[in-house]
Amino acid sequence: MNAPTASTTPTPTAPGGWPLIGHAHRLARDPLPFMTSLRQHGSVVRISIGPTPAYVVTDPALTRRVLVTDAASFAKGGKIIDALRVFFGDGLATVADGDTHLRNRRLMQPMFNKAHIATRGDAMIQRVQEMVGNWREGESRDVYADMNDITLAAFLVALFGTDLPAHLQGEFTTLMPAIMKGTIRQTILPQWVTRLPLPANRAHAERVASLRALIDQAIDYHASRTTKAQAGAPADAGACPHASAAAAERAGLFETLLNAQDQLSRRQLQDEAITLLTGAIETTGTTLAWTLYELTRHPDIEQRLRSELEGVCHERPLRHEDLDHLPYARQVLQEAVRKYGPAWMVTRTATRDIDLGGHRVPEGADIVWSPYLHQHDPDFFPEPHRFDPDRWTTERAPATRGAFLAFGDGRRKCIGENFAWTELQIILATILQTWPHIELTSRTPNAQAVVTVKPDTMTMAYRGQRRMPADSSSAEPGRSGPTTNTATPSP
Ligand code: HEM
Repeated sequence: MNAPTASTTPTPTAPGGWPLIGHAHRLARDPLPFMTSLRQHGSVVRISIGPTPAYVVTDPALTRRVLVTDAASFAKGGKIIDALRVFFGDGLATVADGDTHLRNRRLMQPMFNKAHIATRGDAMIQRVQEMVGNWREGESRDVYADMNDITLAAFLVALFGTDLPAHLQGEFTTLMPAIMKGTIRQTILPQWVTRLPLPANRAHAERVASLRALIDQAIDYHASRTTKAQAGAPADAGACPHASAAAAERAGLFETLLNAQDQLSRRQLQDEAITLLTGAIETTGTTLAWTLYELTRHPDIEQRLRSELEGVCHERPLRHEDLDHLPYARQVLQEAVRKYGPAWMVTRTATRDIDLGGHRVPEGADIVWSPYLHQHDPDFFPEPHRFDPDRWTTERAPATRGAFLAFGDGRRKCIGENFAWTELQIILATILQTWPHIELTSRTPNAQAVVTVKPDTMTMAYRGQRRMPADSSSAEPGRSGPTTNTATPSP
């Protein structure tokens, strides 16, 4: 055991702890105000979650030490990760630091580089256009459910390609919301409760087993298509020069893992696919829901977005290559990611006794860091509750000085960040292009911190003359001109 390296000061304990449960009631009742209140007590603050103490880091510079400069002393771990690992195995987000993590990260990194994601861009746009164009004009819709469905559909197209059979897509759409709900329950409850043979625990285990079976079918489908394409490639290429381009068009990012030299076992492939699905959907889904909500509150911001979009696309539908020319859309999305988390509590475990900003942290202690907390720090984000996309202009962004940690940092930094920005921009731009008016039809939503920061209720109606791209199946991909549809109800 190593001794702390510097003289230490006593670590303040957050007020309001109760015997036995510590601050668990605060985390259950008002977690976001509780988290942001900790800053006033010091740069590292002790809280108790039940009988277990945890050290919350409130200074973004110290969080960087935990994630980057001293990462070897703060291993990925903690209660939430343990709970997730039971079902999701050793996927990239839950596997312990070490060789397996490094190897799998290296294998998966190419799936999520910008150039590779760009190859899926137009296919994602087309899928999103179909879904958004199918909403009925004026119907009040559950925004959180819609955004999760769309992010899932776009992600499936990116991961498994464009020709995944419809019944598999449908089963994913049915299963994932229940899986996410069950996962939230598993991470909130004490572990001994989640291990009891209760109906809810059994149902969750059965759903995860069904998801594994479904992923298996998607992998088999993908693998058989790849084998066929490889077997037929030379002949097809000779017969039709566009055949290999068409095959590439249909392919998915998951091909990278299936074709890797350093092959993963079937169980590992399942773990990685589950990890990606659960990591990708709700994070981007909630961000989009909150973005739309802020647009209903700020017509000026919505108008600027629409003008930017029209300036770039004129009257035609979005193409992937447009995304780099929509800086204001990126600012708006970044502000939504800042204001609404979406990650609000992430954990590490101290691998040795260590000094953190003058505080002694004992080996084995849980460390908590919170992007939400840092992103509401008024020292870096004045008036943190204000939705202000202009914080992210090139002139003003430097003032945030490393306090935007929504995607983490260091060796466990979000692997899907590039993908997330692409998907967020595609979905926001498509909704705006399709529907001229967006209206909140529910009461003002409250932010609920579960796995992400989600709205407790949020419905919206989309109105006006719906604009749809021309039938893209008959047009060159991404080159179709616009048509206007009078908003006929979808079948
Ligand atoms: C707004 C969207 C997103 C946010 C805010 C977000 C946030 C994060 C954060 C904070 C971490 C680091 C956790 C830690 O340090 O322990 C993380 C890791 C991860 N994220 Fe994301 N994420 C987003 C979207 C995505 C997407 C779209 C994918 C998949 C394509 C994804 C897949 C992952 C994976 C696999 C990890 C684990 C990386 C590792 O440990 O090596 N995320 N994410």
